[in-house]
Amino acid sequence: MSSSSHLIIKNGTVITSSHQKKTDILIVDDKIAKIGNFTSDDDDAGIIDASGLLIFPGGVDAHTHMELPVMGIHSSDTFATGTKAALYGGTTTIIDFANQSRMESLNQTLDKWFLKAEGHVYTDYALHLSVTVVNHQTIAELEGIIKHRGVSSFKTFMAYKTMMITDDEIATLMRETSKYGGLVTVHAEDGELIESIIENNISQKNIAPQFHPINRPIVAESNAISRLVNISERENLPIYVVHLSSAEGLNCALNKSNAKIILETCPQYLLLDDSKYLHTDPLEVNKFVMSPPIRPLQNHQHLWKGIADGHIKVVATDHCPFTLEQKKLGLNDFTKVPNGIPGVEHRLEILFSEGYLKGQITLNQLVQVWSTNPARIFGLHPRKGDIVVGADADLVLFDPNIKHTISSKTHHMNVDYSAYEGLDVVGKCQGVMLRGKVAIDCDGVLKINEGYGHYIHRGACVV
Ligand code: URP
Ligand code: ZN
Ligand code: ZN
Repeated sequence: MSSSSHLIIKNGTVITSSHQKKTDILIVDDKIAKIGNFTSDDDDAGIIDASGLLIFPGGVDAHTHMELPVMGIHSSDTFATGTKAALYGGTTTIIDFANQSRMESLNQTLDKWFLKAEGHVYTDYALHLSVTVVNHQTIAELEGIIKHRGVSSFKTFMAYKTMMITDDEIATLMRETSKYGGLVTVHAEDGELIESIIENNISQKNIAPQFHPINRPIVAESNAISRLVNISERENLPIYVVHLSSAEGLNCALNKSNAKIILETCPQYLLLDDSKYLHTDPLEVNKFVMSPPIRPLQNHQHLWKGIADGHIKVVATDHCPFTLEQKKLGLNDFTKVPNGIPGVEHRLEILFSEGYLKGQITLNQLVQVWSTNPARIFGLHPRKGDIVVGADADLVLFDPNIKHTISSKTHHMNVDYSAYEGLDVVGKCQGVMLRGKVAIDCDGVLKINEGYGHYIHRGACVV
């Protein structure tokens, strides 16, 4: 009898970013130990029969906002509730954004985020740092933060008055972080343009939430991305654009071959369209107030094609939920609506049902944007994001035939509406493993405790 625990997943169809094969997986303790067809000589080995199921690597959601402080409130999912919901959707690692307030150092920001997360997380987790002040102290902190605290990516804002930094500051951060394997990510919307439209609308008393998409037009995104293309070309360094929303933005990113723009989009920009903003009930509109806004329908096909062509590398959720009570704060005034939507639970079923089954992407491409690419780009691979010997045994057992309907009545996120309410999807997680342990069993029962999730100290970003 061995002291280590052995578990075999038999007869599943393993899908990776490049392969698809019916095979068995041996898990020893928390790692994948063997892949192939074999019989175990270990009588104590547990066996899970995965006949008829697809096995994906556990998802890496590279863009979440748990307990994000916004305008005196917090996004409604805590690290506990949000990561529990993430697990139900097959995501086993999140990368959350620790947002620097302008009064604090980067290390103080990180301390605050660890305090919120440690001991409460169900998935494994890592952190990006959003940098809102670029000065000598910020620069001096970068090396230690990347090498000793395992945070190798940094978000910058080109929009939002209280957070945006200049193009020169973005370039400085790119140069300084790249010395230690860091990567700069950007919220790419032209803040000056947006502020001037907002000012003009406020002066004309056009402050209903229905003005949100008018305040933040596609040209604000494409302007910002064009500026980033120039910065990337000039600095000869890569830059990562979060939550790309439009075909025009995509085209701008691909405009110059000397620039290296890494693109992320989100399910909301692949599925939802701006007709949601036409509703006469402002609360209905506020459910979909996020930045950038959702766009006209014709953008969807270009973004799906961007994934299929390999131009868009990551699909993350930008999960940032607010309850209807919180969304009511901006019922009559767009400046008061907390921005963001829930989604951390639905990324896989949307990619599978709306992407793969509708012929937009292949299963290998699904795995690329769902898990392998974000793991690689953000320094988690090969520990995360793959089904290979030696990797953490983070696995999703997925039934490709189960039909169900997305609804706030059945989701696990701590928010009382769903952005995808009533969407019929095919395919559902029927078991999720995190580091070799069954986290959600085939009956949908949660089998791990709050705090089972570990912080993952990341290595250099790879682009
Ligand atoms: O509206 C959004 N996306 N809220 C979350 C913060 C951000 O800009 O990503
Ligand atoms: Zn953003
Ligand atoms: Zn975000």
